Amino acid sequence: MRRPFIAGNWKMNTNVTEAIELIKDMKEGLNLLSTVDRVLCPPFVSLYCAGELVRGTDIELGAQNMYFKEKGAYTGEISPIMLKGLCKYVILGHSERRQRFLETDVMINEKMKAALAAGLLPILCMGESLEENEAGKTNEKLSHQVQGGLKDIAANKAIVIAYEPIWAIGTGKAATGTQAAATIKYIRETVGKMWGSEVADSVRILYGGSVTAANIAEFIKELQIDGALVGGASLKAREFIDIVKQSAAIKQGK
Ligand code: 13P
Repeated sequence: MRRPFIAGNWKMNTNVTEAIELIKDMKEGLNLLSTVDRVLCPPFVSLYCAGELVRGTDIELGAQNMYFKEKGAYTGEISPIMLKGLCKYVILGHSERRQRFLETDVMINEKMKAALAAGLLPILCMGESLEENEAGKTNEKLSHQVQGGLKDIAANKAIVIAYEPIWAIGTGKAATGTQAAATIKYIRETVGKMWGSEVADSVRILYGGSVTAANIAEFIKELQIDGALVGGASLKAREFIDIVKQSAAIKQGK
């Protein structure tokens, strides 16, 4: 049984004061839902105070990106060793970074290796564009992203993968549960070809893209889908708690 996993990617939203407010608003509600891994990914500048606020709970934190070098003359970058101690997870390869900041599979693979070497657990994001989807190239794209992202990395059950079709991110047009489950099954098989099916069957694979409290059930009820990477809806305390609550109930068969 894979433990359900719901992460909130706050993206470039909230200043420190707002982040503190948001965590205060969700902390108690989230803390009760301990059958699900709950991960908050605020901006870097709020990670430290977020850590102070969730101390004593099993709510975990993640960063949204990092550079692959440990330290040095890389103005403006954040390194794995800086994140170590501040958070457990780091989102890598988000499509917004691939598209806007031209991150390639090669760079993302460097980041994956650096994160693991520092003891951080990557949440590796991948997904196809609308054009690729319409041209029937979804699996081909994902197969490249899995192979590129995991290249030369030893089998590891603890990493997390997030399937986020680009056309579903921030558009209000989520995939259907059936579509997402079929693609996630394909991702799992591709991981299995690299790492063996036993490890692939243990890796958590999430769906992301316009997940809300109104549609989470459709994804979570699919056996292939272990949780969600939530963007916009993770900035609303009540809705995010509701997403985690529904996920806990459905995965427990209630
Ligand atoms: P939305 O939930 O806002 O569509 O964002 C999804 C996402 O990109 C999470 O990483």
